[in-house]
Amino acid sequence: MSQLDSCFNIEDFRRLARKRLPRMIFDYLDGGADDEVTLGRNQSSFSKFQLMPRALRDVGNIDLTTTVLGQKVDLPVLISPTGQNRMFHHTGECAVARAAAKAGTIYALSSVSSTSIEDTASASDGPKWFQIYVWRNRDITKEFMDRCRENGYQALCLTVDLPVHGNRERDLRNHLTFPAAPTAKTIFDVLSHPRWLYDYLTSPAIEISNVTDSPSASFSDRKGLLDYITKQFDPTVNWDDVAWMIEQWDGPFLIKGIVNPEDARRAVEVGAHGIIVSNHGGRQLDFMPPPIEVLPDIVKAVAGRAEILLDSGVRRGTDVIKALALGATAVMIGRPYLYALAAGGEAGVDRMFDLLRAEIMRDMALLGCTKISDLTPEFIHRF
Ligand code: GLV
Repeated sequence: MSQLDSCFNIEDFRRLARKRLPRMIFDYLDGGADDEVTLGRNQSSFSKFQLMPRALRDVGNIDLTTTVLGQKVDLPVLISPTGQNRMFHHTGECAVARAAAKAGTIYALSSVSSTSIEDTASASDGPKWFQIYVWRNRDITKEFMDRCRENGYQALCLTVDLPVHGNRERDLRNHLTFPAAPTAKTIFDVLSHPRWLYDYLTSPAIEISNVTDSPSASFSDRKGLLDYITKQFDPTVNWDDVAWMIEQWDGPFLIKGIVNPEDARRAVEVGAHGIIVSNHGGRQLDFMPPPIEVLPDIVKAVAGRAEILLDSGVRRGTDVIKALALGATAVMIGRPYLYALAAGGEAGVDRMFDLLRAEIMRDMALLGCTKISDLTPEFIHRF
């Protein structure tokens, strides 16, 4: 029996990922900003919402299909963009994109992925979005858009909660740097995980592939690449830049990282088709509110003019159901699939989707709902 067979929920994948990964890599994935208050609350806040079932309804046939920005999906759980997936398992983004396609859902590739826009597109013919920043060098931003168009990415998703990097103290303590600058501690950490080390040493070097492949980018070496990318995060970006980007892309466009209803309203006014209510998994500003808490006010502010997705803190089928009942079209997950990827590569992510799907179906039946459109606020009872 493989160790994956003894994973029955996301926390089980997390435990297995913790065993498989060097501590500094696990902490990079698992950790949050400052005191990690938001990180913890993202999950615990779901418990403030109770589910109020309706009895004696025919729940013999449950249908989880829905539509997100015009794309039919087989379950309302999408892959959130996360960087550098090959650090967690040598098969990285391609494995996750293939698993998402098998699960019948949308895969969102990060700008700072370890597999390029092109290679991810060749790995999977499932529906794909691309996550983007407005970089200081607007030529790179435009070039990424062109590459996405050429490779069939359906939507662009602009992250707006990262004008500067959050303070991740676990990474500082673990001496996690790029490129790696080995210390006695990090060498011991890596040598204690020979299976990860073997895969790492026998796979191509991990790069920020979209940038290393970019004709618009200019940097000297690997150290220069990191400095270059760090400088590309432009803290002066504002709503005018978003309007510029929406015009340039001229297709389905989402803004990720909104928790304030006023910003949600502004996003609609500037022309966004989707809003991803997210606090970057608690990795940016500590004490940002958990998305599930602000979702109802955002739904009210948007008033049906854009689709709303929820990201940050989703671990259970009941979390998905609560978000949808409160007005989200779908949820996005980040850490859950990375834990599963680290635990067992593509097979791990397949199993994670199977478990989540089974949980959502069982919970819908227990709630007395058979289809996604049945999920309404009447099923939610707040403490
Ligand atoms: C990057 O977006 C990160 O959260 O590490």
